[in-house]
Amino acid sequence: MSNSSKNVKVAIFGLGFVGLPLALSYALRGCEVIGVDVDPHLVDQLNNGITHHLEKYHDIPIQQVLKDMLAAKRFSATLDAGHALKECNNFILTIGIPVTDKGHDFSHVESCSRAVASGLKPGDLVIVRSTLIPGMTRNFVKPILEESGLKAGEDFYLAYSSERIAEGKAFDEFENMPTLVSGINEASLQKAMELMSIVTKAELVPASSFEVVESAKVMENISRDVNIAMVNEFARFTKALGIDIFEVIKVANTHKRVKLLIPGPGVGGYCIPNALHYLAPKADELGVPLKLLRTARKINEEVPAFVASLVTKNLPVPPSKAKVAALGIAMKDYSSDDRQSPALDVIKILLNSGIKVAAFDPAVPSKHAFQVDSLEAAVKDAHGIIVLAKQNGIGYNNFKLFNELMSKVGTPFIVDTKNLYNRDEVEAAGFKLESL
Ligand SMILES: NC(=O)c1ccc[n+]([C@@H]2O[C@H](COP(=O)([O-])OP(=O)(O)OC[C@H]3O[C@@H](n4cnc5c(N)ncnc54)[C@H](O)[C@@H]3O)[C@@H](O)[C@H]2O)c1
Repeated sequence: MSNSSKNVKVAIFGLGFVGLPLALSYALRGCEVIGVDVDPHLVDQLNNGITHHLEKYHDIPIQQVLKDMLAAKRFSATLDAGHALKECNNFILTIGIPVTDKGHDFSHVESCSRAVASGLKPGDLVIVRSTLIPGMTRNFVKPILEESGLKAGEDFYLAYSSERIAEGKAFDEFENMPTLVSGINEASLQKAMELMSIVTKAELVPASSFEVVESAKVMENISRDVNIAMVNEFARFTKALGIDIFEVIKVANTHKRVKLLIPGPGVGGYCIPNALHYLAPKADELGVPLKLLRTARKINEEVPAFVASLVTKNLPVPPSKAKVAALGIAMKDYSSDDRQSPALDVIKILLNSGIKVAAFDPAVPSKHAFQVDSLEAAVKDAHGIIVLAKQNGIGYNNFKLFNELMSKVGTPFIVDTKNLYNRDEVEAAGFKLESL
């Protein structure tokens, strides 16, 4: 613990997939951290040392880090924003903008900014780390913060720094990922870099405006969306040609300037599917059509329907009499997060076509009606298996169990969206393998 971090008090607003590990990262470096959230159940669980996140600080599970930081009194969670505003001078905002069929939900950013404004003091630092529509720090967050009567850049410091972590690697990436920072003025930029350097040892990259960092963030995510759409399209081609997409990618990537990503059941989570929706409103306002980006998003949105068709074409019985085991429902491998998971989209399509689905994922705490508590319950009487996410604790190769429990009607099949299986082994075990 350095002397510079010992007396630093930080309040983190939003204790989700970003906010909790960020709060603990500051606490681990000796800061006194108050985490603020509006979810009473979450606050209660955190204060009792409970979290479903799967992060690790080096080899220490986040559950242990949380317990240690609570015991050291360097972290506590609260619903009381006023208390955090009174105790601290540094505020980091990690709340999100959910995107639903009804559009963007700005209410979290709005209410959080208003809560901060209600107790903002001269000399305080506010760093926004949420992913925003470019322009929002200046035109949305700043005016709300200034309802405090204080002026950004004059009375309090205001900075925007995009958050680049991937779930599952949060502690490591807070420390080792180069991070972009911008301020309303030079003093805000410097103040933000000072606070961030307590956790971030990698380069802190200053940028000339909020808009540069906000835009870079959404473009980073969209570039992954586009690259994934491209390999999903390549996969449709290689399947039609009768060759293995994963082998094609492996050999193509020996090219020094080519880095193809891998196809899968779709693109999920909070970040990548939403990214286009964070750029599009500003692009519409500016009259920029974003043709390629919209097409890529549509391609990725259509993948779950394709994957579901790989199941239906292998059913030995009509859909209304069929059962399928879905293994893994997280939005990506080794995650507990099923927000906007393509696995759920695939399952929804199968259910809508009348198929009974039993899904097993020991890492995802949600309780969907189709979720079961064991591999046995998932595969019992199933006609086929679909693998939608890799997860520790799922016996993907337990062919003995599958043979014992699965339906004896027709040839049992495995739809593999994760390149988990060896065709010869699967066929030798008596299963048909359907890959991407
Ligand atoms: N999840 C990721 O891997 C990731 C990576 C990079 C960036 N981001 C961005 O970081 C932000 C947070 O993402 P997340 O995945 O942690 O979201 P999350 O939904 O897991 O967490 C957000 C938390 O904010 C809380 N909240 C809502 N309104 C609040 C308020 N007024 N005051 C205090 N708390 C409030 C919610 O209860 C929730 O616990 C988003 O902008 C997201 O796009 C996320």
